[in-house]
Amino acid sequence: MVFDYIDGGADDEIARFEGQGAFHDYRLAHRVLSGVDKPNMSAKVMGQKLDVPFILSPAAGNRLFHTDGEIGPAKAAEKVGTVYCLSTLSSRSIEEISALTRGPKWFQLYVWKDRVLVKEMLARAKKAGYTALVLTVDFPITGNRERDPRNGFTIPPKLGPKQIWHALNAPLWSLDYVTKSSVKYANLAEDTSAVSLNEFVASQLSADFSWDDAEWLLGEWNGPAMIKGVARSDDAIRAVKTGFNAISLSNHGGRQLGCSPAPIHCVQDVRQAIGSEADLVVDGGVRRGTDVLKAIALGATAVSFARPYLFGLAAFGTAGAVQVVSQIAEAVERDMILAGIGSLGQLDESFIRYLK
Ligand code: FNR
Ligand code: LAC
Repeated sequence: MVFDYIDGGADDEIARFEGQGAFHDYRLAHRVLSGVDKPNMSAKVMGQKLDVPFILSPAAGNRLFHTDGEIGPAKAAEKVGTVYCLSTLSSRSIEEISALTRGPKWFQLYVWKDRVLVKEMLARAKKAGYTALVLTVDFPITGNRERDPRNGFTIPPKLGPKQIWHALNAPLWSLDYVTKSSVKYANLAEDTSAVSLNEFVASQLSADFSWDDAEWLLGEWNGPAMIKGVARSDDAIRAVKTGFNAISLSNHGGRQLGCSPAPIHCVQDVRQAIGSEADLVVDGGVRRGTDVLKAIALGATAVSFARPYLFGLAAFGTAGAVQVVSQIAEAVERDMILAGIGSLGQLDESFIRYLK
């Protein structure tokens, strides 16, 4: 049930798997004899210098996957010199994760019905040193993820016969789950009872949040901000006008609208529409070094991902998350050498070959 929560998508999981598969629509025409042996992988998003051209996307409730929870990805990001983006719904608190590493951190916000709570969270994130806000806008309600109800999955998990059967099939996870700290949303004052994500989101989050509210929020935050979950050029233009400094082209890993387009397919149109007025981060399906290079060649500033580090975390805790993220950093370096690229600024559409 926990694997399915991470891996799954909405409806027939078309967006979930196309997000990943769409990278296969492009090939990279490598350049030869360019004399590159130590490529410079650095990128800059919202003024933040990154040693690698990716950031770690926010993901809820990491304690569900391993007792280390958000410590895993925070350490992994620090190791490769990039940003960790902490979810509103994290299982370790804004303050704990901030104190853990010296690496840069951003805070992802879901908008609570209770606007006092929103202001409180922004103030806590600012005080704890998070340097940018990431407003996720593709989650007014929860998408139709059919694996979760089939598994009777709740957060925290309820233990009935079906869940105990799942647990017996994952003995190491179960041992960690029963003997270590309990699963909770650490940024909330009270523990929530075991409910489905749909119920929790419908009762707590604000589905009617609009562009006007986004403008209000940017005023409250008064700092660098990225909007996460955009697919269309007109929305991207509106986001720039509203004051966002970066746009995350994302469909939430195919977990929300079941047939939304693959983010990588949206890059060129959106880049053309907004010019150089905002940074573009492609989020969804990035698994290989070549995926990162394709996104940048098509016009992205950087990319991001969650499932790869979540699977690493689930398998081996912090060490697993660090290993996966380090492997992706090594892959980018290797693929830059193989493609004959000394720095990311050299990547442009001339490297792209289209299969479709
Ligand atoms: C997510 N995602 C997410 N996004 C967000 O803004 N806040 C959140 O709390 C979460 N929670 C979450 C949990 C889990 C288990 C997953 C898999 C994803 C979406 C995430 O940030 C990102 O958009 C997608 O995961 C990108 O797809 P890949 O590359 O991870 O497959
Ligand atoms: C998810 C949320 C919580 O995708 O963002 O499960």
